[in-house]
Amino acid sequence: MEQLAAKLENYKKEILGFTPQNAEDVEAFRIKYLGTKGLVKNLMGEMKQVPAEQKRAAGQLLNEFKLLVEERFQSFALLSNTASATIGNTDWSLPGNSLPIGTLHPLSVVRHQIITIFQRLGFAVAEGPEIEDDWHNFGAMNLPEDHPARDMQDTFYIHQNPAWLLRTHTSSVQARVMEQQKPPIRVICPGRVYRNETISARAHCFFHQVEGLYVDENVSFADLKQTLYYFVQEMFGKDTKVRFRPSYFPFTEPSAEMDISCLICGGKGCTVCKHTGWVEILGSGMVHPKVLENFQIDPNKYTGFAFGMGIERICQLKYRVNDLRLYSQNDVRFLQQFTAAL
Ligand code: PHE
Repeated sequence: MEQLAAKLENYKKEILGFTPQNAEDVEAFRIKYLGTKGLVKNLMGEMKQVPAEQKRAAGQLLNEFKLLVEERFQSFALLSNTASATIGNTDWSLPGNSLPIGTLHPLSVVRHQIITIFQRLGFAVAEGPEIEDDWHNFGAMNLPEDHPARDMQDTFYIHQNPAWLLRTHTSSVQARVMEQQKPPIRVICPGRVYRNETISARAHCFFHQVEGLYVDENVSFADLKQTLYYFVQEMFGKDTKVRFRPSYFPFTEPSAEMDISCLICGGKGCTVCKHTGWVEILGSGMVHPKVLENFQIDPNKYTGFAFGMGIERICQLKYRVNDLRLYSQNDVRFLQQFTAAL
């Protein structure tokens, strides 16, 4: 037992003092200590000669020694590709597993497309806060005190301060632009908006808009039509037709909603266009004189047009997304389909 302990002490010193210079050294180490005719095997053989009452203690010593040798070998092997290839058949020189790369959200893709089209026409991008006050969201936009949109049922108000609300449209950003800038003004306002709706395939409590505003001398309804027609052709293709229907918004006069010919059936009639051949994509109109006056812009000198569209709607028509909830469920199987769309 004592002999064995002394022997092991010496070997330990030898092992701990050994530093391999290359792969050959590592392999030589393995053969010398761990090979089939190596030292560890030999010592195990010598166990036979140990008296029975000392076998337990000797076995423990030997095991500890074996573990030390194996540990040393593993640490050398990690430093050397060829040697490590011999343990567990792992090739440490292979490149690592690549991490999956995310994709742009379809709404980001479409927002980007909309912005670049209007940028080509000279529109600048303006942004504003999602938490707004009544004035920028409603008052300045000529939405009267008793307008149903101001109802608690339609709008989210901030508990701590009833004067604050979550903007219901990015017209609030147009208000902020007119506050700070005098004509000519030519901006688009992309952003998230909130409405108190029950979540379903067709409605959500938040969605995204791009609104636009152009104010200058001699801006006419013809400018509005041509601008939006250009947008549609760029966005949906040259064959897409448009039509304007008279409508009402408190902040524009006259107002119109714009439809495009149904992309799904080409105008023949299907469930998407409810068999009319047309689908609505945006609201628009000539800026109401009262709105201009709210910002000390003289309506006798300046006129303007404005429009607003939902990004979800454009995305739905362009990529056939049939349920609004898909946009916020973050299911990668849905999101990954838009990788190449930009
Ligand atoms: N603000 C309107 C909405 O959110 C859209 C719109 C903007 C309509 C500008 C006309 C002019 O529905």
